[in-house]
Amino acid sequence: SDALKIGIAGLGTVGASLVRILQERHEALATTCGRAIEITAVTARDRNRDRGVDLSTMHWHDDALSLAETADIDVFVELMGGAGEPALSAVKAALSRGVHVVTANKALLAAHGIALAGLAEEHGALLNYEAAVAGGIPVIKALRESLTGNTISRVYGIMNGTCNYILTKMEKEGLSFEACLKEAQRLGYAEADPAFDIEGNDTAHKLSILTSLAFGTAIAADDIYLEGITNISIDDIHAAADLGYRIKLLGVAQRTDSGIEQRVHPTMVPLDSVIAQVDGVTNAVAIESDILGELLMVGPGAGGNATASAVLGDIADIAKSRPGAQHVPAFGRPVTALLPYRQAQIQ
Ligand code: NAP
Ligand code: HSE
Repeated sequence: SDALKIGIAGLGTVGASLVRILQERHEALATTCGRAIEITAVTARDRNRDRGVDLSTMHWHDDALSLAETADIDVFVELMGGAGEPALSAVKAALSRGVHVVTANKALLAAHGIALAGLAEEHGALLNYEAAVAGGIPVIKALRESLTGNTISRVYGIMNGTCNYILTKMEKEGLSFEACLKEAQRLGYAEADPAFDIEGNDTAHKLSILTSLAFGTAIAADDIYLEGITNISIDDIHAAADLGYRIKLLGVAQRTDSGIEQRVHPTMVPLDSVIAQVDGVTNAVAIESDILGELLMVGPGAGGNATASAVLGDIADIAKSRPGAQHVPAFGRPVTALLPYRQAQIQ
């Protein structure tokens, strides 16, 4: 059959949601995409864990690399996480044999995104990663496709659902930082190591990807001023409110005369601003550009369904395209056309 065959590495919060949705909507997706999407291969660490989904028709691989290297698949879906192994080698192996890759792994992209995009180009494969930034919000498509031709001056927003959930719940329910973090973990919002969320690294990873897309530069995840929310107390939140502000963890990237400025830190935003009203796990990304003006996108930023929605969109894009169709480059332009990153002095 001409079904699109996919292999999924990682069956946790996002992977299990994706499997469930692909199974429940199998017929509808086949109609929409013009062909069925079949999960033929899967892997995770623990073969015996009940994941609440039926995996009996899929070939279980003992490790991600063997799946990426040998499975009979058109698309490798990487939902394990981590900037290193096995995600890096598995994604490289898939792209090297022309297998398309869909991933939600911003840590991997922040560290190796441009090299992986180069590999994808070389082998005629797609590297799709809508879920890697701001969960279900289609911000990658907006920057990569819809805003092509605009000169972008600034991208900023709330890009970590866990932090925004914690800050909101501390303010509205008076709960401790630790209790809010535990709840975010229980709901599947937090990273496997939640230090990445609360210390700001996850926002930095996402920001570095948006910076590259917005300004057409190489990714520079290490050139980011970084401060997380671990030192924010309920007293700080109340003091900010008394002054007419709310504290939000923002990622900000902007063009300056001397280069690009990237920063992640808790920020006092006026209570009557849209950003201040973005509550809980919701994310918001604002893009300022010269032709369009200001675009603000607000929506679910983490969690199984929100993230699986974006992963599914990336898979469906591949299912709908036909072999030989023109490919959208992973970072919006050919890798050779990316400009060197020039860091601005942060005042
Ligand atoms: P998770 O619940 O921790 O699931 C990770 C999955 O990967 C698990 O099934 C785990 O296996 C498997 N895995 C981990 N290491 C592996 C290895 N060495 N070999 C094979 N399988 C391995 O994580 P998640 O929340 O679904 O996140 C997955 C990815 O999506 C990450 O890159 C994350 O940053 C990204 N993401 C998550 C969200 C979210 O809201 N959760 C949103 C956007 C992006 P076991 O189940 O057997 O342990
Ligand atoms: N841990 C991340 C967050 C997942 O809380 O935003 C979504 O990328």
